[in-house]
Amino acid sequence: MADRLDSLSGELLAAVDAAADLKALDDVRVAALGKKGSLTDAAKSLGQLPPEERREAGRRVNEVKDAFTAALNAKKADLEASALDARLMAETVDVTLPVRPQPMGRLHPVGQVMEEITAIFADMGFAVAEGPDIDDDFHNFTALNFPPEHPARDMHDTFFIEGHKELVLRTHTSTVQIRTMLAQKPPLRIIAPGRTFRCDSDATHSPMFHQVEGLVIDRTTHMGHLKGCLEDFARAFFERDDAPLRLRPSFFPFTEPSAEVDVRCRRTKEELIVGEGDDWLEILGCGMVHPNVLRNVGLDPDEWQGFAFGMGIDRMAMLKYGIPDLRTFFETDLRWLKHYGFVPLDTPTTFAGLAR
Ligand code: DAH
Repeated sequence: MADRLDSLSGELLAAVDAAADLKALDDVRVAALGKKGSLTDAAKSLGQLPPEERREAGRRVNEVKDAFTAALNAKKADLEASALDARLMAETVDVTLPVRPQPMGRLHPVGQVMEEITAIFADMGFAVAEGPDIDDDFHNFTALNFPPEHPARDMHDTFFIEGHKELVLRTHTSTVQIRTMLAQKPPLRIIAPGRTFRCDSDATHSPMFHQVEGLVIDRTTHMGHLKGCLEDFARAFFERDDAPLRLRPSFFPFTEPSAEVDVRCRRTKEELIVGEGDDWLEILGCGMVHPNVLRNVGLDPDEWQGFAFGMGIDRMAMLKYGIPDLRTFFETDLRWLKHYGFVPLDTPTTFAGLAR
């Protein structure tokens, strides 16, 4: 019996060693430990031994079995590791390659430009804030220092919610300034992209459109910071080394002083080139947050100050990508989307490029 076990042990370990893959290894296991396996047989035959030999032989069977199982497991781990290595070698993917153009959906320019603007301001440390499309008179007008008889409250501009005197479809994303200042303690640095609504419709106005609001509240933030921030933004957005801006004095109830911002441009018959030329093109409104607005949200204007800005996302998309008519944005024409849309998965980043 002892000799038989010695030679069986040698054979089994050699078979484990020789197994070329997981399937062959499992065959070796079954041939030894299966119902009719060689080791199973040896264990069964213990009963026929004289009692004085049985004990020693039983110990030996267990030894051989343990050694075999250990060799089996080690070999299995080995084979699995090399199978994984082989797969990893065969399946290498170059993650730096651009996404292959495939017949697939396109991202709408509005979504694309929203992502671009968000990526640029995120790099400058702005967080994204949100507010509801339906808001109340307080957030849309009163807290923003609109006098009661201000024309913007007029039926002609504002969509009121039937049966709810206080509720409106927000006419601008400036509502989110108020919501943020009421919910969070300064210092604040947020942008708020979203839908806005006004009762207006032509080639450059749509009753539903998109804006992005910006708000910075701090102790020492001044108009120089505002201009610098917008200049950085314009260079990044228009992807130019230089995109000179001009601030023109203007009026908004919620800022003082207020300005409208133009970017330098050149117009040819077919084209509008941003960043060079002798012409100016308005891109946004901005200013220093009005002390009354700060008071309306419980901030002391002697302690806190800051700037705000608001810009039309659809308009920025038209300018950057040369789309002539705003109404086409919302016609859900697939040919239009194929032409002006963007490849999904190419997420805009300031380091890899905003648009491809
Ligand atoms: N809310 C203004 C509008 O819809 C845009 C705007 C102007 C926003 C100046 C601002 C700002 O935050 O400071 O026309």
